[in-house]
Amino acid sequence: MRKVFSYLFALLAVLVIISIVGVVLFVAFRSSPPSPPQFSVIAVDVYRMSFVSDPFQQSNLHFDAFFRVGLLARNPNKWKAISYDSPVHVYATFGGQNITGEGFIHQFHQPADDSNVLVASLAGFNMTATMAPQEQLWTDLVAGRVELELECDTILKGKSFHVDCPVVLQYIPETQAWSMQNTAQHGICG
Ligand SMILES: *[C@@H]1O[C@H](CO)[C@@H](O)[C@H](O)[C@H]1NC(C)=O
Ligand SMILES: *[C@@H]1O[C@H](CO)[C@@H](O)[C@H](O)[C@H]1NC(C)=O
Repeated sequence: MRKVFSYLFALLAVLVIISIVGVVLFVAFRSSPPSPPQFSVIAVDVYRMSFVSDPFQQSNLHFDAFFRVGLLARNPNKWKAISYDSPVHVYATFGGQNITGEGFIHQFHQPADDSNVLVASLAGFNMTATMAPQEQLWTDLVAGRVELELECDTILKGKSFHVDCPVVLQYIPETQAWSMQNTAQHGICG
């Protein structure tokens, strides 16, 4: 009889230890932050990207741009959702200068292991760049190849999250339109 009790006691002790370890692991898992989302650019539609000269100020060129961009946001976490606590703000830069204002993607909740396509419109009218990138942009536009960065900002669980996505746009004479060049290094945000 005593032996049975001591077996039961040992079994109970083992069960208690297993549950404590389980609870500790669960709490540690729940409180560790999820891995950040992975962004990539899947499309850039260029509606406008050109210099406009101010008729009253010939020397002062202005730049107009209008893009629609499609981003893929992937939640790499197998078990954790990602909450975007603020809208995703997207804007385009060239040579470190803003060439569009911000496009917005509404805040959303992304379940574990899920991917979403985010679409934003970026508009820049009468953007004045400093001289150096302006000349480079002019040269690149004429050459039909422009390297931009798409900057994305949002807030995840109270922490700001920023990635930039290098994108190469190329002018295709046959279609008379700009389109995104897809290569291994381009379009991946980090
Ligand atoms: C570029 O745009 C971002 C986002 O709107 C803004 O925070 C930043 O101040 C701008 N930079 C300049 C130089 O205007
Ligand atoms: C463009 O912006 C400049 C100032 O940077 C301003 O003087 C000019 O009137 C603007 N042109 C248009 C067409 O809005």
